[in-house]
Amino acid sequence: MAVVTRGGYRVMDLDGQEFTPQVHTIAWDPVSAVKGEYKHFMQKEIFDQPRAIIDTLGGRIDFENGTVHLPEMNLTPDLVAQINKLFIVACGTSYYAGLVGKYLIETIARLPVEVEYASEFRYYNPIVDNQTAVLAITQSGETADTLAAAEQARSQGATLWAIVNAIGSQSMRLSDGSIPMHAGPEIGVASTKAFTTSLVDLYLLACALGTLRGTISQRDLRRLTDDVTHLPSLVGRVLERDSEYQTLADQYYKARNFLFLGRGINYPIALEGALKLKEISYIHAEGYPAGEMKHGPIALIDEAMPVLAIVTKDALYDKMVSQVQQAKARGGIVIALATEGDEAIRQEADYVIYVPQTPPLLAPVVNVIPLQLLSYHIAVRRGADVDQPRNLAKSVTVE
Ligand code: AGP
Repeated sequence: MAVVTRGGYRVMDLDGQEFTPQVHTIAWDPVSAVKGEYKHFMQKEIFDQPRAIIDTLGGRIDFENGTVHLPEMNLTPDLVAQINKLFIVACGTSYYAGLVGKYLIETIARLPVEVEYASEFRYYNPIVDNQTAVLAITQSGETADTLAAAEQARSQGATLWAIVNAIGSQSMRLSDGSIPMHAGPEIGVASTKAFTTSLVDLYLLACALGTLRGTISQRDLRRLTDDVTHLPSLVGRVLERDSEYQTLADQYYKARNFLFLGRGINYPIALEGALKLKEISYIHAEGYPAGEMKHGPIALIDEAMPVLAIVTKDALYDKMVSQVQQAKARGGIVIALATEGDEAIRQEADYVIYVPQTPPLLAPVVNVIPLQLLSYHIAVRRGADVDQPRNLAKSVTVE
């Protein structure tokens, strides 16, 4: 209980015992909580991402030695040596960030990762013990299912970690180690900058775990840290193309269904693109691992089904091109998200969105931006309440 007067405040427990509370300083400035020149908070938060990523990287990379520092994680060589499995628990957009995290941590740190919907994890008996770490990803830090999943893991002896945006929230206080997202206040219900900053945090965590587990050399680490420093400008270049996504939205805002396809590290981005469109425009949209198309969803494809395929340059590029050809062969309308300079894809797709060449492990951060803006412009074109979509809350604090 706190008693606040003109002259100050006192804090006490409910027996009246006074104590000195731990103070967290929130670095957010009031300006970031207003729309400024933007029409919607979601639009403002999308354009705020280069700054949010710079703040998220701030103080965490020693450019002299090319090393990563995550002081609030309390990682020690002994603790990391003890951990043989990682669970990531989360909901909604944070869950999709977890799927990218699995890819990053297994690729860089070779630590087995299972990603679970927190609402499922809390009700089945997961195999968790004191050699397990459980990482909760949550923008608000107050999502009921994610908190319950973390508390359950704690009761089974796991080490608890959290990637969270809301400083001082329950998730942060519950955890043994945490990485703040530094996205600043996110007011639009549809999460955007909290998603991309959590991907950056997962990338840094993978580098830190890879260093402590000896799965990456000093040279690898320097390349990985160099790569991530280019991310704010790469994202900035994608944002400069906003008018293209507006034109695309004008063409497709009447669509009744939408299919998003991706492979590998971009599969979760297909899921996130579909979720953004669903939650703010109310268009039925599905994200799918492209290789699964021929096992069912290809039946959905006809001239009324726009298909957005993530075909950026990586090891799975040729596979994705053949997916685009299969969709075209069934009369589908294909929008390809491709890498600048890729002229060949123009022959295959009806429309091409270009993004700058990006290191594959960081491509999800760049590739999601056009999907955020496409959904935003489609929702505006349909007259939807972009910041407060129907039936949704910014933080789901009940089960
Ligand atoms: C995303 O746009 C939604 N607002 C929703 O799916 C959200 O990601 C989910 O409720 C999890 O919220 P959290 O990150 O605050 O825990």
